[in-house]
Amino acid sequence: MQTLRKPVIAGNWKMHKTIAGARELAEAVVRGFPEVSQATLILIPPFTAIQEVRKTISAAGVEVGAQNVFWEEKGAFTGEISPLQLKEAGCRFVVIGHSERRQHFGETDETVRKKTLAALGHDLYPIVCIGETLEERENNQTLARIRTQLEKSVFSLDESSFSRVVLAYEPIWAIGTGRNASPEQAQEVHSFIRSLVAGRYGKTVADCAIILYGGSVKPNNAFSLAREKDVDGFLVGGASLEAESFLAIAREALRAVRD
Ligand code: 13P
Repeated sequence: MQTLRKPVIAGNWKMHKTIAGARELAEAVVRGFPEVSQATLILIPPFTAIQEVRKTISAAGVEVGAQNVFWEEKGAFTGEISPLQLKEAGCRFVVIGHSERRQHFGETDETVRKKTLAALGHDLYPIVCIGETLEERENNQTLARIRTQLEKSVFSLDESSFSRVVLAYEPIWAIGTGRNASPEQAQEVHSFIRSLVAGRYGKTVADCAIILYGGSVKPNNAFSLAREKDVDGFLVGGASLEAESFLAIAREALRAVRD
């Protein structure tokens, strides 16, 4: 990680936690936050707990995000949630195109593009997820897949819009499997992403772009991953469900910056 980019540690709680459980976890994160306040921490609870988490963290400087958004502001779209509603609930960030949504709910690069545009239009910071399957990796298609995903979902944005996008590289084979990408594997893809951003928007935008890694990040692998030049932080699943491990990952990322 380069020192000009402050580490960003985002906890994607997925479909876990009741409102009470979310409050408890957020309170524990807030208690530990002073020690890691040099990092940006983002808690991403299920929709039902966003407001409760927002209330718990608001004075502390911790951020809150959502796990999905629809591209319309309002209307007859049963079961969807709009950027306006997320904004009102206190979100600043929103995850878009997580592989679980692509796999189970028909998300495509085109829906990711529409959602990203809508989120930006409401002053939300999109965290756009990209990543390859195990089969694509084994067939040497990783970089081609990443390129296509970026070109189809975010590279149509103008420069000032793109500058507000956080990218998250999450190899699908590493999500929830306990098998993280090695630091070298992560760095290869992250530097490739940064070079594509440089090709599209120029070096200054690329140098400032935030590229998170996600997939079985734990306290014991966070330091070596965060030490890689183009890894700017993490999108954490399982290990974000306990304050202790989430905060430990933030500590390790900060240690890597200072190293
Ligand atoms: P795990 O950290 O549980 O592998 O999940 C990663 C993820 O999907 C974060 O969005």
